Amino acid sequence: GEDPRLQAISQAIRVVPHFPKQGIMFQDITTLLLDHSAFKDVVDIFVDRYRDMDISVVAGVEARGFIFGSSIALGIGAKFVPLCKPGKLPGEVISEKYVLEYGTDCLEMHVGAVQHNERVIIIDDLVATGGTLSAAIILLERADAEVVECACVIGLSDLKVRSKLNGKPLYILVEPR
Ligand code: PRP
Repeated sequence: GEDPRLQAISQAIRVVPHFPKQGIMFQDITTLLLDHSAFKDVVDIFVDRYRDMDISVVAGVEARGFIFGSSIALGIGAKFVPLCKPGKLPGEVISEKYVLEYGTDCLEMHVGAVQHNERVIIIDDLVATGGTLSAAIILLERADAEVVECACVIGLSDLKVRSKLNGKPLYILVEPR
């Protein structure tokens, strides 16, 4: 059966209709962070999944992927690498653009943050279209890292999303409410 912790995790996420704009059902993970037990369960589930998979890098997507990703990195004894919005990292970066509903965005990673053939997991709070994770995968593969899996707290187990991820597995805890 399903992990009994998942129901409490799902309920700890606040759904805010019409934020940041009309028609969006915003999945607010700040309420999950206020619930120590639910927050810990999220991190524990990911740490239990990845601790024996020889992962040396956890890459987190700005901004909410940092919150979960850094805790997971500490829990499995891996490095944490931030994948940032443009202009946030001071060193030399590689960049990957991706398409949004309106316009484009970009993720950047420091050159030298990962070594060739390091095994990486990519963490974010939520996957919607998969565009962000797709750019994150490309960025890490351009640095010759091995992307083992992408993982999010919230997402649809949607084949369209998975088809964007270049064959990489996607692991999701709960669906949006
Ligand atoms: C949200 C979310 C993911 C991304 C998922 O971030 O945290 O990073 O959207 O969407 P996708 O699967 O369609 O690419 P957002 O773009 O709102 O940026 P933020 O973290 O800076 O708020």
